[in-house]
Order: sequence, then C-alpha cells, then structure tokens
Amino acid sequence: MNAYLVSHYGPDGLQHATLDQRPPGPEEIAIRLDAIAINPLDWKIRNGWLDEMIPLPLPAVIGSEGAGTVLSVGADVTGFAVGDRIAGFIDSGAFAETAVTRAARLLPVPAGLSTEQAAALPTAAETATRIYALLHPEPASTVVVNGAAGSVGSMITQLLVRDGHAVIGTASADNHDYVRGLGATPIGYGPALVDDLRRLAPAGIHAGYDTTGHGFIGRVTDLLPARRIVTIVDFAAAAQGAIVAGGDPTQLTITAAVREVFDSAARGELRVSIAASYDFDALPDALALSERGHLRGRVIVRGKGRESAGV
Ligand SMILES: NC(=O)c1ccc[n+]([C@@H]2O[C@H](COP(=O)([O-])OP(=O)(O)OC[C@H]3O[C@@H](n4cnc5c(N)ncnc54)[C@H](OP(=O)(O)O)[C@@H]3O)[C@@H](O)[C@H]2O)c1
Repeated sequence: MNAYLVSHYGPDGLQHATLDQRPPGPEEIAIRLDAIAINPLDWKIRNGWLDEMIPLPLPAVIGSEGAGTVLSVGADVTGFAVGDRIAGFIDSGAFAETAVTRAARLLPVPAGLSTEQAAALPTAAETATRIYALLHPEPASTVVVNGAAGSVGSMITQLLVRDGHAVIGTASADNHDYVRGLGATPIGYGPALVDDLRRLAPAGIHAGYDTTGHGFIGRVTDLLPARRIVTIVDFAAAAQGAIVAGGDPTQLTITAAVREVFDSAARGELRVSIAASYDFDALPDALALSERGHLRGRVIVRGKGRESAGV
C-alpha cells in the first residue's frame, strides 16, 4: 500500500513509501482510508515536538484521523462488518491507503454525513465534548472561546450556542463572518481584546475555553479567573489554576458524546467545515497548509485506496 512515513523528525522528514499492511489483531479492524483529515498533531509529530510524549520507532507512518471502509475485522470485534463506512482515530497511521486500528477508536458514519465530513470530526468532537464536560457553565452563561474558528474551537462554540449560552469567540478578522455564522460574537486577538470582552459582557464572563493559547489566560485574568478556563494548549497555565485538558492522543476512544456529535452533524444541526481538499499524492502540501494555520475546519486528503477501488 501507499503511505507516508516519517523517516526523521523535521520539516523534510515525511517520505512516500510502499509498505505491506499487517492483518488486524483480535480487537482491531482493517480499513481502506477514503478520506484523511490533517490534524495539528500530525505536523507537531513530524516536527519532533512530541517525541517524548509519543515516542515513535522511526520510520513510522503518521496521521491521526480519517474515515473509510471496513476491509476486515478481528476475531473479537462486534458491531462492525466488511463494507461499513467508518470514521475515527487511526493506530497504524492515517497517511496511508489502508490502516489497522482498535475497534474502540472507530464508529459507523451516520447517513447524512459525507466521508470527508466524517474524517474531519473525530478529534474536534472528542476534544470539544471532553472540555465541555470538564467545565459546564450555568444555564444562559456568557462564555469566551479563544480560537473559535479552529476545528475544536468551532465545535465547542456550536455546542455552547446550542445549549443557550452567549459565546464570544476570538478569531482572525478573515474568520469573523464564519464565527458569526456559528452563532457567536467574534472579536480579534489584538490589544482591544480585554476592552471588547468588557464591552460585550458587562455582567461578566462565566467560563472560557482556550484552544489556541498565545497568552490568553494571563490577558483575561482580571475578567475571568484561570480556574474557570479550560485550555487544550497552554499546559503551563495549570500553575495559574487553569483546567488543563491533556491526555495521550493515541489513547482517545469513541465516547457516547462523540457519537451524539456525529448524529447531530448528520442531522445538519452542527456545521462541519472543510478548509481544503487534496489528492493523496499532494498530502505533503495538505500538511503544509495545516501547519500555516488560520484555517476554517480540517484539510482533507482523498484516500489513495478509494482511487484504486474506483469509488
Ligand atoms: N490537549 C488536547 O487534548 C488537544 C486535543 C485536540 C487538539 N489540541 C491542540 O489544540 C490546538 C487546536 O486544535 P485544532 O484542531 O482546533 O486546530 P486548528 O483547526 O488548526 O485551529 C487552530 C486555530 O487557532 C487559531 N489561531 C490563532 N492564532 C494562531 C496562530 N498564530 N497560528 C495558527 N492558528 C492560530 C486559528 O484561527 P484564526 O485564524 O481565526 O486565528 C485556527 O483556526 C492545536 O494546537 C492542537 O494540537 C489539543
């Protein structure tokens, strides 16, 4: 099968290769990847920034999430059958034509959701629902989301809006209309951030979700104590009392909350934005686009196996 592996850490460390795919173990499923979502985790791993947290025996196929079709199932797997359309987190690396992953990390794609949308959802759904569970605001709260246009940011924004909270979301100016379309009030990251928050929330802000860092927690400390902010990026903010949502991304599984997000998205109640789509042969360009940042949604790579299968 065609794959991209990291031969060494660094910007030039990703290489195309042709590899054999091992069969699934008892609790695993073999899949054809029809759509691969590029995740910031992928270029952080390629750059070697996470080599202590996620030690990889190089060379290794990377890529964390995607969607596709079940090719075969392990002896102990129930609830999945050959030909099912599935999405989730990919153990053996998503930057490949086929993959093997634990069944607990996959879910069936509900009708109404495209394979590309399904590929874009696992991390956003898992992270947004996890941080929401860590800090559930009182009904009708005013809440700030730092990085509201990102994949995780746009998902937590939509969940909060759905539940009746007033959301103020930071974003680059180009993304303000997008954030407004999610039901939030957009503001910039610049020097006016604190004044904008005071003006838009005269009765105070009750909770914050930080998906992009850049000193946000320290800047808003007079308005919102760190203990009422969850961050997925600013791990040092634990010293200020912030709630840090870390964890090992290689051990994420499909929770009931993730299934609910997939079902809501399939009913059209949650928006899943695709920033750009690339062919498999241009995967390195897709990775570079994700690394440049400021996207609205995930960059998607069409699976090589899908080309070969003619679907
Ligand atoms: N701890 C965890 O469990 C966990 C889980 C998932 C993700 N993460 C991390 O959380 C972060 C967000 O993930 P994501 O998937 O939502 O990423 P994403 O889709 O790439 O979104 C990141 C957003 O950050 C904003 N941003 C602000 N300043 C930026 C800058 N200087 N450069 C680039 N973007 C900037 C961008 O929006 P604007 O253009 O509007 O500024 C962008 O949309 C990533 O670092 C990821 O690795 C952590």
